Amino acid sequence: MIKAAIVTMSDKGAKGEREDTSSEEIKKLLEEIPAKLEKYVMIPDDYQLIIDTLVELSDRHKVALIVTTGGTGLGSRDVTPEATKAVIDKEIPGMAEAMRFESLKKTPHAMLSRAVVGMRGSTLIINLPGSPKAVRENFSVVLPAIKHAVEKIKGGQADCASPWH
Ligand code: MTE
Repeated sequence: MIKAAIVTMSDKGAKGEREDTSSEEIKKLLEEIPAKLEKYVMIPDDYQLIIDTLVELSDRHKVALIVTTGGTGLGSRDVTPEATKAVIDKEIPGMAEAMRFESLKKTPHAMLSRAVVGMRGSTLIINLPGSPKAVRENFSVVLPAIKHAVEKIKGGQADCASPWH
């Protein structure tokens, strides 16, 4: 079973001023992979704190998948993509492009998400926007490719041409 973590980025949420319904959406979708939620963290939109959290979850807890929500937009406190870029070894642009491409069919505001997807060691890190609706619409796009991506990142020999992939 894939070990997963959710990181919610929200200044208001971290102060207890906003309920985190977006992580609930992620939890539901993780079950479809299937992935087991090992860690859930809610932190403010702080660049260094986001870096430390992503490093801790990937290097120490060794989760295979980190899904973040929030902080991908244009506000001055939106730094999730920058912090993610600072910790990943390789970017996986196709997954982020696919999310934006499909989301644009739902709302032109999809182009305002600067979400990044990449890998750090054996961990796949996926940024999602902050609202529960955006979480559902974005995450469902990459969901069918996550199991194979995680296998490949771990160095698995799964055959990409096989009919099961
Ligand atoms: N993508 C989808 N599919 N659906 C949405 O409603 N909202 C957009 C965008 N992506 C949205 C979406 C909006 S309004 C913003 S501002 C950006 O995601 C960034 O969101 P964030 O700052 O909460 O991360």
